[in-house]
Amino acid sequence: MSEAPAGSQRAAKRRSLVVGNWKMNGSAASNEALLAALKAAPLGDAEVSVCVPAVYLHDVADSLHGGAVHWGAQDCSSHESGAYTGEISAAMLAEFGCCHVIVGHSERRALHGESDALVAQKAATALKHGLVPILCVGETLAEREAGQTEAVVGRQLGAAIALLDKRIDGVVIAYEPVWAIGTGKTATPELAQEAHALIKSLHDTRVLYGGSVKPENAAELLGQPDIDGALVGGASLDPASFSSLCQIAASLS
Ligand code: PGA
Repeated sequence: MSEAPAGSQRAAKRRSLVVGNWKMNGSAASNEALLAALKAAPLGDAEVSVCVPAVYLHDVADSLHGGAVHWGAQDCSSHESGAYTGEISAAMLAEFGCCHVIVGHSERRALHGESDALVAQKAATALKHGLVPILCVGETLAEREAGQTEAVVGRQLGAAIALLDKRIDGVVIAYEPVWAIGTGKTATPELAQEAHALIKSLHDTRVLYGGSVKPENAAELLGQPDIDGALVGGASLDPASFSSLCQIAASLS
């Protein structure tokens, strides 16, 4: 990967953003306990959001309404409306008070064949309806070992920049090396910082790190100059872990 651009040319470190990605987990009963813990956690200056399964958005909005924690969804359609059975539009998510929507998560790219162009279109649709897309990029282990990290991340981000042009400023990027997701193998802080600096050299925006983030490794990761927060899967399902992650982010904000 190429050398990081000079930090002095970039914006000062941003307020930390911690986003929980519940994936396809939860139940009415377990969500209640998780949300109660979240509402009780001292968040300080950190910004916190939870991206939940769409069927729970009504309950989550009800529970978090008026508080400090934002909420959002894990995907949206690239279309406005129409004959797209099973899909959920960005306009619908906006009606439920969503602040964020994850687009292009590696699980959707891998399991649902989502292309860079489709992910960029989803981000465009989300922005149009006032949502902040969290656009995921990241290389597989094979791509990293083949020295293709820069090319892969550049291609994924490039598609969004090409379509969105100046609107890309409204997008949060999440760097999630696929080999670190749900595996317990976190990227070293140095390696993550290197990738974040690369992303910011392509577009200077808020960049979250994702991949096995937990309270034990969060301070070191979030302490890196170009890591502006975290996208958290597994640890966001445990009330104690997630609130402790929020506190760590708050102490660094
Ligand atoms: P993980 O998931 O924290 O369980 O690795 C992160 C993600 O997929 O967003």
